[in-house]
Amino acid sequence: MSETVKISYGGKDFELPVIEGTENEKAIDIAKLRGLSGLITIDPGFKNTGSTTSSITFLDGEEGILRYRGYGIEELAEKSTFLEVAYLLIYGELPTQQQYEKFTREITYHTLVHEDIKKILDGFPSNSHPMGVLSSLICSLTAFYPGSLDPTRNEDAVNLSIVRLLAKMPTFAAWAYKNEVGHPVNYPDNSLDYCSNFLKMMFALPAEKYEVNPVVSKALDKLLILHADHEQNCSTSTVRMVGSSQASIYAAISAGINALWGPLHGGANQAVIEMLEAIKADGGDTKKFLNKAKDKDDPFRLMGFGHRVYKNFDPRAKIIKKAADDVLEAMGVHDPVLEIAKELEYAALNDQYFVDRKLYPNVDFYSGIIYRALGIPTDMFTVLFAMGRLPGWIAQWKEMRENGEPIGRPRQIYTGAQTRGYVSMNKRG
Ligand code: CMC
Repeated sequence: MSETVKISYGGKDFELPVIEGTENEKAIDIAKLRGLSGLITIDPGFKNTGSTTSSITFLDGEEGILRYRGYGIEELAEKSTFLEVAYLLIYGELPTQQQYEKFTREITYHTLVHEDIKKILDGFPSNSHPMGVLSSLICSLTAFYPGSLDPTRNEDAVNLSIVRLLAKMPTFAAWAYKNEVGHPVNYPDNSLDYCSNFLKMMFALPAEKYEVNPVVSKALDKLLILHADHEQNCSTSTVRMVGSSQASIYAAISAGINALWGPLHGGANQAVIEMLEAIKADGGDTKKFLNKAKDKDDPFRLMGFGHRVYKNFDPRAKIIKKAADDVLEAMGVHDPVLEIAKELEYAALNDQYFVDRKLYPNVDFYSGIIYRALGIPTDMFTVLFAMGRLPGWIAQWKEMRENGEPIGRPRQIYTGAQTRGYVSMNKRG
């Protein structure tokens, strides 16, 4: 017997079905609410509103659990590779050896981008933030592959777009950086794996020999796995929303990159390092900054802390904290901001304000410290988040399409002026 919820309004009772997921999460299905009662629901920030059912990622914020297609994030981070996880997210199962080789081969084949894209890149001033450049270059793919504008494209055509996105993202990301620093771009080296190729395009200079450090490449691969999906967050919801209008997949992913950019979302990794640097420059008094974060009259927030859904440790943060120690040791790097970060975490976790609100370190708290140790400049951090999140966005876009979901179009409660007549300018107050 399926459960229902009863609502009483205007002297009438309405019964709405309760739907249940495979992990026993429950939701009131309000699809018929307006038709039955004339009411809509309102929920700023969608704090209690599910936008879809999804079989991609399971997240239990109370227990600190994150699984992609049923596989725990901890196991994937330890045993898998980023491209294998990308396949899992997008196609639903871990690939066989043959599927994996084909997928990797195709992605490697498509790493090169049309030479005219370099002209677009050249139009950006150097010093442009690489996130803006990245989203623009991804969106420019609509011009180079206009077939992607056709919403009736068949599965093969869609798969080709997916491969192109995964293949060209590292090229664009490295080029966005080269533009920022005013260096000539490097072309892909298809003898290298996904992360090594990206690192070479990013760091190699014409006058110097560049060897990819396998420690760096492995650490980056792990970070990308940890960022690969996170169910219906701000950028993913944006991708699904834009995709629901049947715009090109490139346009939808470009919109997701822009949504990720803000400091409350993926931009927090950059903001964390800037905050830790500011604490260091101020003499390292973590208590002082903790008090600022608690002061409601001060706009300062502890960046890298708190999460809309985690009310426990973010499982990604636990893995990244350990990886930060390992990477810094392997690279022989001593970064004083790591000490500040640990001190700040300890102080926050023992402070009543943070305990009461269940605020824990999130994925962005320690990731920047690893990126720095790998030699990646601060404003590239969010670009790396985007590179990691790409398979998740693609998987969610594909699921939305395959579910035949309707165009996303929330309602509102209007609070503006009621109807009034036009007043000519010379008679206005
Ligand atoms: N520092 C100080 N107070 C905080 C913080 C913080 N980082 N985060 C939340 N709070 C307080 C907030 O002031 C509120 O207090 P009160 O109940 O007294 O008004 C309470 O905790 C609940 O916060 P909220 O803003 O209602 O929670 P939210 O779910 O709307 O916001 C968040 C979630 C991630 C935007 C927020 O925690 C935040 O701004 N954190 C810092 C930015 C950050 O690290 N973002 C990265 C998120 S993880 C990566 C990703 O997936 O994007």
